Amino acid sequence: MSYRITIESSGHAFTAEPGESVLEAALRNGLVIPYSCRGGTCATCMGKVVEGEVSYPDGELPPGLDPKEAAIGQALFCLARPEGDLSIEVREVRDGGDIEPRKLPCRVVRMEQLAHDVMQLDLKLPDTERLQFLPGQYIDILLRDGRKRSYSLANAPHKDDVLELHVRHVAGGAFSDKVFADMKEKALLRLEGPLGNFFLREESPRPIILVAGGTGFAPIKGMLEHAFYIGLDRPMHLYWGARSRRDLYLDALPQAWAAEHVHFHYTSCLSEPLPEDDWDGAVDLVHNRVLRDFPNLEPFDVYMAGPPGMVHAARRDFARHGLPAGQLYYDSFEKAVDAPVSLRPSSSSAQ
Ligand code: FES
Repeated sequence: MSYRITIESSGHAFTAEPGESVLEAALRNGLVIPYSCRGGTCATCMGKVVEGEVSYPDGELPPGLDPKEAAIGQALFCLARPEGDLSIEVREVRDGGDIEPRKLPCRVVRMEQLAHDVMQLDLKLPDTERLQFLPGQYIDILLRDGRKRSYSLANAPHKDDVLELHVRHVAGGAFSDKVFADMKEKALLRLEGPLGNFFLREESPRPIILVAGGTGFAPIKGMLEHAFYIGLDRPMHLYWGARSRRDLYLDALPQAWAAEHVHFHYTSCLSEPLPEDDWDGAVDLVHNRVLRDFPNLEPFDVYMAGPPGMVHAARRDFARHGLPAGQLYYDSFEKAVDAPVSLRPSSSSAQ
């Protein structure tokens, strides 16, 4: 039997399945409430049960909840399970800036080379920590000498046991050189995040076009995995552009999504295919390919992530094809080799 949970201040309602915590049910339904440890200790997820009852695993109050707080209806929603329909009060996260960035240690628990110049790094936080983020946001890796390198989170928030990065090798890059030269699993790093205002706007009714250039696929992947998880059924069209076939480093993944979800469509596009690519797909700049398929962009929300040249050209041309500025969200991956600050300070939306 499932239970209905209503957030009083917003009127947002969702259902919890048996055994689900209020937080798990909210996230599965695309509603974001604050959390950190997900283990009942930090109290970040605290809210109030206005009507109804909750219980906790093993019948014990979690360590972060004082019996006096529980007596007046306070609850830790990461562990609290509904015992019937609930009315609750809790803060909702609606914007990237609603989640306070934190500096945390992390460990590289897995490395996988996805392409000749792209390495997947899976980062694990200490056991008592989870990083809350919105799909599409990024983190900074804090280097020992004070510099930072920015990487999008490629996983969706519901799979936050590890943080997935797609690191592209930049010759002379302060972090990526190390990743490709001598980094080993178990390496210790420090990160700061979540950062940026590039995230999926779930409340819009419009169909979605997503445009990725190279490792711009990373935040788009997080957004799409989140969209599938919460059952978003708006039409979604992904365009992934790269130079040659070897740069489409996870091409099979969106192909599998397209086979599984009727409302998802995938087009890959190469700008400089190699003879050995045997490529019979689109040869064009990726944003031109979008415009060939959709010459009128007025009905769409558009999300794009990738190199500045792609983002700049697409912003200009998409506006000429009717895309309102408030329906464009983009993350421009700046490239710097030895800049003293973050590689990618500009994670932006047009709003
Ligand atoms: Fe830390 Fe719930 S998220 S106590």
